[in-house]
Amino acid sequence: MWPYPKIISHRGGGTLAPENTLAAMRCGMQYGFRAVEFDVMLSGDGIPVLMHDPQFGRTVPGRGRVADTLAKDLAVMDAGAWLDSRFAGEPVPTFEEVVRYCRQNGIWMNVEIKPSPGADEQTGHVVAETTARLFADELAAHAGPADLPLFSSFSFDALAAARQSAPGIPRGYLVDTIPDDWLARLQALDACALHTNHKNLTSTQASAVKTAGYGLFCYTVNDPARAQEILRWGVDAFCTDRIDLIGPGFGV
Ligand code: G3P
Ligand code: MG
Repeated sequence: MWPYPKIISHRGGGTLAPENTLAAMRCGMQYGFRAVEFDVMLSGDGIPVLMHDPQFGRTVPGRGRVADTLAKDLAVMDAGAWLDSRFAGEPVPTFEEVVRYCRQNGIWMNVEIKPSPGADEQTGHVVAETTARLFADELAAHAGPADLPLFSSFSFDALAAARQSAPGIPRGYLVDTIPDDWLARLQALDACALHTNHKNLTSTQASAVKTAGYGLFCYTVNDPARAQEILRWGVDAFCTDRIDLIGPGFGV
C-alpha cells in the first residue's frame, strides 16, 4: 500500500510559481497541497540547495555552474524574475530552509536528488546525511514512512550513496522509460517505489510493478483525463505542474 499523498505539487508550485523556491512552496500551500516534489543539488562548497539545472541561464540569470558557485552567492541570486516580475528577488533556498518550512507547515516531501554531472555519490551522501540529521527524532522513534521524506533520483549511484548514509529514509528509483532490469535495480537499492514518466508508461508495465509489490509514481501529469487513466491502471501517485487543474483531492 502507498503510504504517501497521492497528488504532489511538482517543484513546489508547478508552473504557477518559480520552481524550487520558497515562493513555490507557499503557492502549493495556497492551492491546498501538503505534498511537494523538489530538486536538490550541491553548491560548490557542498551545501544542498534547491535547483534543477546544473548551469545558470534558465531559472537564474547569467552564466556559470551551480557546482562552481558558493552557497552564499547562490543565496542572493534571483530565482524568481524569470517566471514573472512579481517574483523578482526570490532567492535560491537551501535544502535545510525548505525542509524547515515544509515541516512547520505539515508538507510531505519527495526529495529528488539531482546531482551535477560527476557528483552523484557526493550528492547522495550529503543530501541523505542532512535529511537524517533533520529527521533524527523520527528515525530514532522508527516513525512510519509518511512521517519521513521519500528520496528519488535518476542517478542509481546517488541513491545507493543515500542508502549508505541514511538507510532509514525510503527511496524511489526514477526513470524516464522503465528498463528491462527495473526489478533488479529496485532490489539492489532496496527501494520501495519506481518513479517514471507517465508518457512512456503502459498499463502492462503498471500492472507488473504493482504485482511485484512496489509503489508506482508518475511525473509530470498535467491533463486530468490522463491522470484518471493512470490512476485506473494502478499508479499510486503523481506530481503535477497544473495545481490549478488537478487539486490535492483529485481522483480520491
Ligand atoms: O521527480 C519527478 C520529476 O521531477 C523528474 O523530472 O526533470 O522534472 O526533475 P524533473
Ligand atoms: Mg524533479
